Amino acid sequence: MTMPTSHCPWRMQVHHIQQETPDVWTLSLLCHDHYPYRAGQYALVSINQRADTLRAYSLSSTPGVSEYIQLTVRRIEDGVGSGWLTQQVRRGDYLWLSDAQGHFTCDNEASDKVLLLAAGCGVTPIMSMRRWLAKYRPACDVQTIVNVRSPQDLIFAREWSHYAVTRVAEHDVTPGFIAGRLSEALLQQVPDLAQRTVFCCGPAPYMDWAEATLRRFGVTRFLREQFFTPPVAASADVERLMFSKRSPATTFSAPRGNSLLQAMESNGVPVIAACREGVCGCCKTQVLAGDYRVTSTQTLSERELAEGYVLACSCQPQSDLVLA
Ligand code: FES
Repeated sequence: MTMPTSHCPWRMQVHHIQQETPDVWTLSLLCHDHYPYRAGQYALVSINQRADTLRAYSLSSTPGVSEYIQLTVRRIEDGVGSGWLTQQVRRGDYLWLSDAQGHFTCDNEASDKVLLLAAGCGVTPIMSMRRWLAKYRPACDVQTIVNVRSPQDLIFAREWSHYAVTRVAEHDVTPGFIAGRLSEALLQQVPDLAQRTVFCCGPAPYMDWAEATLRRFGVTRFLREQFFTPPVAASADVERLMFSKRSPATTFSAPRGNSLLQAMESNGVPVIAACREGVCGCCKTQVLAGDYRVTSTQTLSERELAEGYVLACSCQPQSDLVLA
C-alpha cells in the first residue's frame, strides 16, 4: 500500500486490472468519495510507498460515464512508475492520487466540430474526451484519427469500434487499418477541417508536425497534451552549462537547451517531478545566481519568485547557475 502525500490525498482501491495491449494495462480504481475530474485531465500517483516519487498519468476514464476511475499505463523499460503500476500492483491494493490536473479537456469548448488526433498511448485522454463528447455533446461532429505502430498496439481496440475512427498503423497492417502515418492527405480528407477544434496527444514530434500542418490548412484552435520533453542530447558541438549546488554541495553540467529539471535528473540530483509542465509544483527549486527563462510560475508565490524559486521543469537556464 502506498502512503498519502501532500500532493496525493485521494485514496483509491484497485478494483481490477485489464491488459489492453502487450505493454499497456488499465487499472480500474474505486474511490469511496466523489473524485472530481474532467475528461482529458491527468493525476499524479504516489509510487511504491515513496512519498517523494510521483508520476503523472492521464485519467482514461470519463466523468459521468465510466464506472471506475481509470489509469491506462504503458510499461516503459526501467520505468519506476509504470513498472510498479503494471507489474506489481494487484487487485485490492491501494493507490494515492492527486487532484485531477491539466487544461487538456474538451468540456469548455463550444465548437460543434472537433478533430481528435492520438498516437500510441496518447489515446488515453482522447478516449476520455470521445466518450464525454458522445454523452454530453451528442450533436457534435467528431472526427478521430488514431496512429499506432501495429494493430496489436491499439489501446481500447474494442471500444473504438463504437465510434467512427480512422485507424493508421505503421506495420503489420490488418483490415480496418490504413498503412503508414498521419499524413497531409489523411488530414485533408477530414470534412470542414479548418473549422474544427483539434485535440492532439502523442509524442512531441507527432504533435509538432500535426500542429504545423493543420495551422497551414487553416486550423486556429489546436490544443495539445504533452507527456514529457525529451532532453537535448549531449554532443560535442552543444555548449554545456555548469551548475553549482550549495546543499548538498555538488557541481554538474548539462547541454545548453536542457531544462533545469533535465539537467538535474541527468546528473542524479534529487528532485521530485510529476507533471513536467509547470502545473503541479513538485519540482520547485531555488536559483541563487545566473540567468534563466521560465515558462510557468503557476504554483509559486510572489515571495518565492522574489527569492529566486523556479519550477525546474519550466526553467530554461541561459547561463551557468548556482542552486540553493
Ligand atoms: S514537475 Fe510539475 S511543476 Fe515541475
